[in-house]
Amino acid sequence: MKIRNHHYRTIWRDAQSVCIIDQTKLPFAFEVERLHTHTQMCEAIRSMQVRGAPLIGAAAAYGMVLGCQHNADDQTLQSVASQLIATRPTAVNLAWAVQRMLQQLLSIAVAERAQAAWVFAQAIADEDVAQNQAIGQHGQELIAAVATANPEQVINILTHCNAGWLATVDGGTALAPIYAAHDAGLRVHVWVDETRPRNQGASLTAWELAQHAVPHTVITDNAGGHLMQHGQVDMVIVGADRVTKSGDVCNKIGTYLKALAAYDHQIPFYVAVPTPTIDWQLTDGTDIEIEMRDADEVAYMQGQDEDGQVRRVRVIPNESQALNPAFDVTPARLVTGIITERGVFPPEQLKSLETSL
Ligand code: MRU
Repeated sequence: MKIRNHHYRTIWRDAQSVCIIDQTKLPFAFEVERLHTHTQMCEAIRSMQVRGAPLIGAAAAYGMVLGCQHNADDQTLQSVASQLIATRPTAVNLAWAVQRMLQQLLSIAVAERAQAAWVFAQAIADEDVAQNQAIGQHGQELIAAVATANPEQVINILTHCNAGWLATVDGGTALAPIYAAHDAGLRVHVWVDETRPRNQGASLTAWELAQHAVPHTVITDNAGGHLMQHGQVDMVIVGADRVTKSGDVCNKIGTYLKALAAYDHQIPFYVAVPTPTIDWQLTDGTDIEIEMRDADEVAYMQGQDEDGQVRRVRVIPNESQALNPAFDVTPARLVTGIITERGVFPPEQLKSLETSL
């Protein structure tokens, strides 16, 4: 993604350290942070300086690299892997990337591991970029089909949370088809769910769509159903943190309600994921562990005041409790199609993909 005329990935190697964009500072400040240890990487993932399923996969891979630079024996690798896996439970990409790194590193001599780890992590990052590019192409065809059927019309696409460039190494998943359609000259407009409590839609999706000059409007999380009732949503595209082999989709809290509303209005509901987001071990989405985050994320909101000061304010009574499940599961029956780098699959056909990977 181009930011101030410079092409950035969201994570990259610089000498013996790893650079990330601190997403907790956006949209008010674009700050790069340099990480030197796997402990720093664990904290960056836990605090959501880096977030989004594919990006935390790549971040965890680089965490493995940082964790084996001084000692790469089997015990150290296993310990670093467990610490990284424990940072966030829901997105399967994280454990997938750590397991892949572990398998590759354990299969070579201890003395070679520190150097080789950089190459293995880079491969995970590069694969993510290529997968998202392919998702963009497949998804763009779906948008183009709607545009062909309605030549005069702007295509209104609703998205939830942030499944864009910032949630991946580059390119995005749910936003990749939108960027591709916009770049191809199709007239698209995006309804951006604000996505309480952390506001990834309002703070991150809106910011990156603005960087790419894609027309968009931020809406409250509860506005989507109303817009659908009034014919103002042509399709929904979201990302996911984990998809089961039966096509159940676990994504940011609130996704399920959007899928129910879309189903009621026969609006296509697409989920864009690279294949590392598919958990072939699970069939039933209700078996997925849902991350419970700090209740303070619900009790407080962060924003910038008119003087440019970033402030955190409480929005619920001091006496009230809050509950903060970070994800929910949309059953496969509400999903029109899963857009992967290998093509678009109705949920019931997703299984056919497993054997070809
Ligand atoms: O809690 P987050 O911000 O990491 O959650 C992100 C999402 O729910 C995204 O939709 C999902 O990870 C897909 S990212 C391509």
